[in-house]
Amino acid sequence: MSTYSVKELLSTDNLQQEVTISGWVKTFRSNRFIALNDGSTIHNLQCVVDFEQIDSTILKEVATGAALTITGTLVESQGKGQQVEIMVDTITVLGSADPEQYPIQPKKHSLEFLREKAHLRVRTNTFSAIMRVRSALSFAVHQYFQKNGFYYVHTPIITGSDAEGAGEMFRVSTLDPKAPPLDDSGEVNYKEDFFGKETNLTVSGQLEAETFAMGLGKVYTFGPTFRAENSNTSRHLAEFWMIEPEVAFNDLAANMDLAEDFIKGVLNYVLENCTDDLTFLEKRLLDEEKTKPQAERSEMPLIEKLKFVANNEFKRVSYTEAIAILKNSKPNKKKKFQYLIEEWGADLQSEHERFLVEKHFKCPVILFDYPAKIKAFYMRLNEDGKTVRAMDVLFPGIGEIVGGSQREERLDVLQDKIKELGIDEKELWWYLDLRRFGTAEHSGFGLGFERLVLFVTGMGNIRDVIPFPRSPQNAEF
Ligand code: 4AD
Ligand code: MG
Repeated sequence: MSTYSVKELLSTDNLQQEVTISGWVKTFRSNRFIALNDGSTIHNLQCVVDFEQIDSTILKEVATGAALTITGTLVESQGKGQQVEIMVDTITVLGSADPEQYPIQPKKHSLEFLREKAHLRVRTNTFSAIMRVRSALSFAVHQYFQKNGFYYVHTPIITGSDAEGAGEMFRVSTLDPKAPPLDDSGEVNYKEDFFGKETNLTVSGQLEAETFAMGLGKVYTFGPTFRAENSNTSRHLAEFWMIEPEVAFNDLAANMDLAEDFIKGVLNYVLENCTDDLTFLEKRLLDEEKTKPQAERSEMPLIEKLKFVANNEFKRVSYTEAIAILKNSKPNKKKKFQYLIEEWGADLQSEHERFLVEKHFKCPVILFDYPAKIKAFYMRLNEDGKTVRAMDVLFPGIGEIVGGSQREERLDVLQDKIKELGIDEKELWWYLDLRRFGTAEHSGFGLGFERLVLFVTGMGNIRDVIPFPRSPQNAEF
């Protein structure tokens, strides 16, 4: 007798064989039909019980959530809804689940409720589908880069630098919080800390990835990233996963080409390999949208939207053009934007990004050549002296999904910039060395993995696409 997964059994032609299968009970109907799921697929395997054959004390324990091992014969199904089913010979209850206590009952649970049961929510259809798609997407990320000659580099999680210069870092320290050692001027003396300096969890692997690009040519990182920004939104996490390719000799145009090709590549992978889960998620989204006002519903079903993005060119627009569009837009003139666009130089908020993508262009947009003042220190200054070679990829329903740039490769220009921002040059000595020895044009970007999973699964809240979300006041599990 062989042990199979539900997925294997549902696609086998090998009927009349004796099989063993383990999984969790989804439902048990009429004391006869067990819908069993083992996580291998969104579909359940129907197991048909002859209650005269199975001990009634065993059947009492066959309730939603119980873990079972079943043996029986695989036959063509008599009923509708499945091709094959198992005629049960024996049931072993591995672990029961008291219906009075087990929170995941076969009824609709709110996503908020399930967030509080994050240790059990993966047993629901919605979360198992999301997490299988998430797994497939991460495989697709590695496959894309590995096939295209990139090397995977593990950048450190503990660093001493603030790559983005936003100061939103989680400190890493072993000092006694009640009585830290102080220096002569009464400040905490980090020289006595574990690393002999102030350290934090990384906000980006970019600076270290740049060092590797300057030796390996084409590299990418894919790792956890931490930001202590106090933004309680449906698009922000305090711990998220970021993918950061970095390529020697690429300029901004090549960087945009890479971002677009990469995103399309991973979308095509899941379109080909996650059909069942995407079909389920598409239906979930349609059901959810029925409860919303017409104006808030998306214009395309999920799979059609993914195909649309995978098959159409992203619109490339300079920041300057975007500001002109926004300034003259209806919501700006009618003062509907929370932040009105008055002049060139304004930072774009998510409401502006989404207007451009969802209302104006109606497709993904790559904005480039942003004002230097609103972007990070490392971006390549343009000849105009006021814009930098930055690019953000903006997606429908998401807003910014990618942020990247060509990097400043000229030592003197970078030193001036660092001075202007009051950054201590000594902290970045190794980063500046890249510009001292064999410097070259290079570019890269960061894609927020959870924002990609959000887009692909059609979910509305980023906390529902990562197993155990970390956000302000929330680090359970
Ligand atoms: O635009 P960001 O801040 O860019 C960087 O960190 C660069 N160092 C990347 C690079 O050029 N190598 O972040 C990149 C992406 C954003 O576009 C967004 O998708 C995601 O990371 N992101 C977040 N995702 C979830 N929660 C947060 N708090 C995020 N902050 C950024
Ligand atoms: Mg950004």
